[in-house]
Amino acid sequence: MTLPPLKQRFAELIAAPSVSCTQAHWDQTNRPVIDLLAGWLGDLGFDPIRTVTHFTGRTAIIILFITLTVTPARRITGWNPLIKVRRLIGLFAFFYATIHFLIYAVFDRELSLAGLGEDIAKRPWITVGFTVFLILLTLAITSPQAMVRRLGKRWQTLHRLIYVAAGLAVLHFTWAQKKDIRLPLIYAAVLAVILASRLALRPRKAVRREM
Ligand code: HEM
Repeated sequence: MTLPPLKQRFAELIAAPSVSCTQAHWDQTNRPVIDLLAGWLGDLGFDPIRTVTHFTGRTAIIILFITLTVTPARRITGWNPLIKVRRLIGLFAFFYATIHFLIYAVFDRELSLAGLGEDIAKRPWITVGFTVFLILLTLAITSPQAMVRRLGKRWQTLHRLIYVAAGLAVLHFTWAQKKDIRLPLIYAAVLAVILASRLALRPRKAVRREM
């Protein structure tokens, strides 16, 4: 994983034919230069698909956590309009999870349904990731106001699945790591704090009844 010396790199770049022209007889294409750069970056361990998969996965979890902090934040601040943005933030989490899944489906599995099905069935950490995706999909589909009205009390019960999704997402994150699980453990600790604060700030029915 070491690059050639800087002088050699310049020499190789200058030597690579790189004239792009709309006139076919002048055009040499930039392909050799691109291949040279891609080879060096690849040798350094740069893998764009993996980088984007990681970015979208982590962003989905972080936004999921932000969704879960809306209720405790509302209870602490007493600022009720916060609740209006909760559903929108949840949809953002779903958006990132979808991109994360699509990158995997398109680039890793080349849209092969058989390949995807096999992974979901045989690789438990992918099964967990897919379960989270299905939960987020269900919550996104049932998020419009018309669905809230239609499902009545069942809506709230269904949307409690967001806690299951957050827990399973952290499990998927931990399982996806080959060696170092320090970062997923930090995420797990953050989730524990969020859940504890939700429990601590839960409205007490008994207190409400007295009032
Ligand atoms: C739809 C099913 C899913 C599939 C097939 C899937 C697949 C993957 C793959 C291939 C990786 C990369 C593992 C590696 O480093 O080699 C990964 C990592 C990850 N996924 Fe998923 N995933 C899914 C759902 C989700 C969901 C719904 C979330 C979050 C809500 C999520 C969050 C993450 C995170 C945080 C990582 C680790 C990123 C890192 O190491 O920085 N995944 N997933």
